[in-house]
Amino acid sequence: MKSPPISRRVALKRISKTVAGGALAGVLTPQARSADKASEMTVTVLLNEAIGIIKSTIYSHFTEHIGGVIYDGVWVGPNSKVPNIDGIRRALVEHVRRLGPVVVRWPGGCFADKYHWRDGLGPSDKRPRRFGRWQEVTESNQFGTHEFIHFCRLCGVEPYFGANVGTGSAEEFQQWMEYCNAPAGSTTLADERAANGSSKPFGVRYWGVGNESWGCGGKFTPEDYCREYRKFTEWVPQYRVPLYLIAAGPDGNNLDWTRRFFKKWTDFARAPLQGWAPHYYCGTTGHALKFSDDQWYEMLDKANRMEQLITDQWAALGEFDREHKVKLVIDEWGCWHPAGTEINPRHLFEQMGCLRDALAAALTLDTFNRHADKVDMANIAQLVNNLHSLFLADGDRFVATPTFHVFEMYKPHQGARGVRLAIEAPQVGFIAQGKDRKLFRLAGSASVKGKNLTLTLVHTHAIEPAEISIQLRDGKASEGVQQTVLTHEKLNAHNTFENPNQVMPKTTTLKSRGSSIKCVLPPASITRMDLRLV
Ligand code: AHR
Repeated sequence: MKSPPISRRVALKRISKTVAGGALAGVLTPQARSADKASEMTVTVLLNEAIGIIKSTIYSHFTEHIGGVIYDGVWVGPNSKVPNIDGIRRALVEHVRRLGPVVVRWPGGCFADKYHWRDGLGPSDKRPRRFGRWQEVTESNQFGTHEFIHFCRLCGVEPYFGANVGTGSAEEFQQWMEYCNAPAGSTTLADERAANGSSKPFGVRYWGVGNESWGCGGKFTPEDYCREYRKFTEWVPQYRVPLYLIAAGPDGNNLDWTRRFFKKWTDFARAPLQGWAPHYYCGTTGHALKFSDDQWYEMLDKANRMEQLITDQWAALGEFDREHKVKLVIDEWGCWHPAGTEINPRHLFEQMGCLRDALAAALTLDTFNRHADKVDMANIAQLVNNLHSLFLADGDRFVATPTFHVFEMYKPHQGARGVRLAIEAPQVGFIAQGKDRKLFRLAGSASVKGKNLTLTLVHTHAIEPAEISIQLRDGKASEGVQQTVLTHEKLNAHNTFENPNQVMPKTTTLKSRGSSIKCVLPPASITRMDLRLV
């Protein structure tokens, strides 16, 4: 990483002048990389320009039987020395509860298209062991449908099941639904569920039909996948559960997959379909923890392509579904860095998440908020011990990454009414593949719930702070505006088992009020402003 352009002491002196009255004391402690004169930028909150309700499901998660996600991350077993609730890692439950009424997707990913749900039922010592369902490892099936539902109930989240189209059948899918949702005593499968410990139906609403069906899910053509999708979903009993069926969307922003699927879907008759699920991994630049300033910007620029994906995919859906009944479900997204920062070599794809990943997550959540009318659900990949995780766990050690703090900071947006923002700020220049490129310097989203206005802002500049003026169009804030900031002097700062509080949000109260609020955003930061409207 580049060394700071000026000494830390000089930077600190300058920053305390920039931040009038030391309003950010406790945020920009001895950590500013630079305090070159901040340029003034404006964020206008258009309080009367509503986008739509920001569903809590936009803040959802993904857990797959892969590497250390389920075994170690979620499931330690009831006889483990690791504190657990019926085999489920207690620290994870306590943290997931803090994320709000979100959804967790399971059991995959690629694993889902190899998974037979009956393998995960009944006494644990009688469950079959299988091999090679996600790489060359044995699956013990100790964690199955009942364990996952128990995890969801403990955490206060809703389950989202991914069904097997790759090696499964429509019959197997519909029986899984019946097992989960048929009223007590109504069918043989409902009786079997009761014998396995739950006479009460699970009421599973969200069902994904295949995963990445253009790839590990069967390498289908869009037309062939659509044919399968129809077989799986047509005439499925509801069991009084308002089903939400999700079809496997494209790899990234591949419009050909989308158009060809929907052309087939609209040919003759449409099968039930509520959600269209593109996957977008923004990948990496450099390495999880080693990158230049240019690579910092390039990574954030790649994350920012979610914006284009949403608008393009939405437009393509509109060509076939003019009323836009089908919404977007981005059920895998996040950074994907090369191997090398795993905390346990058994944990496939595990990576250390740093401040850069936190900004990538925050700008993506802001993007979803700005498109609250189009995106019904989004699931960052994956919850624990994998890509872009909120948590890392190994044996009895557990730590929350900076990305967890972003999700917690953004929680007030859940269920609030998204409103439009207009931002005036210069772009930041950087070089990628020898070419001059530009990235937004400041972006964000805003929402209103009752009298509470939540404004979240991502400031990408790696060196300079930003002096901003927040203008409230058609409203005023009372005194006591709160500013919560997540940042660090090092762009690659991260939380470890030994040092879990390296990157933590800090809150200060500003004296400002009215329709024009001034504040300073540190370089490389995520900010939440909490304002009370009068
Ligand atoms: O999240 C890891 C893998 O990435 C999933 O199994 C698959 O759906 C995607 O390609």
